[in-house]
Amino acid sequence: MKKITKAIIPAAGLGTRMLPISHAVCKEMLPIVDLPAVYHLVEEAAKSGITDVLIITNRDKDAMESFFDLSIEYEKALTAKGKTEEVKRLHEIADMANVYFLRQKETKGLGHAVGRARKFVGDEPFVVLYGDDIVFSKTPVCRQLIDVYEKYGKSVVGVKPVPMEDVRKYSSLKVEKIEGEDSVTYCTDMIEKPKPGEEFSNLSILGRVLLTPDIFDVIDNLEPGAGGEYQLTDAMKKVARESGIYALEFEGDRYDMGSKLGFLMANVRRGLEHPETADAFREYLKSLSETL
Ligand code: UTP
Repeated sequence: MKKITKAIIPAAGLGTRMLPISHAVCKEMLPIVDLPAVYHLVEEAAKSGITDVLIITNRDKDAMESFFDLSIEYEKALTAKGKTEEVKRLHEIADMANVYFLRQKETKGLGHAVGRARKFVGDEPFVVLYGDDIVFSKTPVCRQLIDVYEKYGKSVVGVKPVPMEDVRKYSSLKVEKIEGEDSVTYCTDMIEKPKPGEEFSNLSILGRVLLTPDIFDVIDNLEPGAGGEYQLTDAMKKVARESGIYALEFEGDRYDMGSKLGFLMANVRRGLEHPETADAFREYLKSLSETL
């Protein structure tokens, strides 16, 4: 079985739910305390054994590229101030993985964005981390998916049960129980953004999928789906119907950084954990909550 070493982060969406900021700053660069969302994605991939990450962008690429690069001038200034720990940290970030960038050119949907990665991926299975979905978990979610792939040898989608009204914003999966498995099911069909009555279940794909390279031929033959976009879910649906896909109910807390509420919640969570802010922030939240 081929070892999984490549990941794709599609980050070329318009980010309309984060307007006006997303007009000038891509949502993947929005901070969770002091690290951008995209840092957490690359870190999750690296901790899962991924060595090469392709980020699909279409604008504001420069900030992301600079973030994973080193700046000699900046380092010199930090070193002169004795901030060697900070310099070390910047090197750790730059060395997490080989990070590549490719422009999508036209915003035609997530399926189209993933299709741009065909040459990068070649004939290997790979992981997709949706650019605005951050998950804090004990075991990185990519690793959780890779473990299922290594057991079953087929594509695996990361899922969570969501309230029925939210299923319509995401996707809905038709799954069958597997004897002896709690969190892994077998998926035979799925639908993107189902209308009321079209849902199979309240299981939605949230932010992480592991795909085998046969997906690229399917993507190349996709018709526009929900919202007039080339939907990755439609490509995965074909694979699920024809040869089956595994669904993993992953462990971890997910934050939708593409929404204002998700962005705020991720920052509160991390603000309460960050050594520089935890104590004072907790006190602040306590006093604030008395006024609510
Ligand atoms: P979303 O639909 O959540 O992102 O796509 P969006 O289109 O930016 O969001 P809104 O609804 O306008 O606020 C899921 C992921 O796929 C990427 C997005 O950047 C996001 O990380 N994506 C989406 C692309 O890379 N290209 C696309 O054409 C569409």
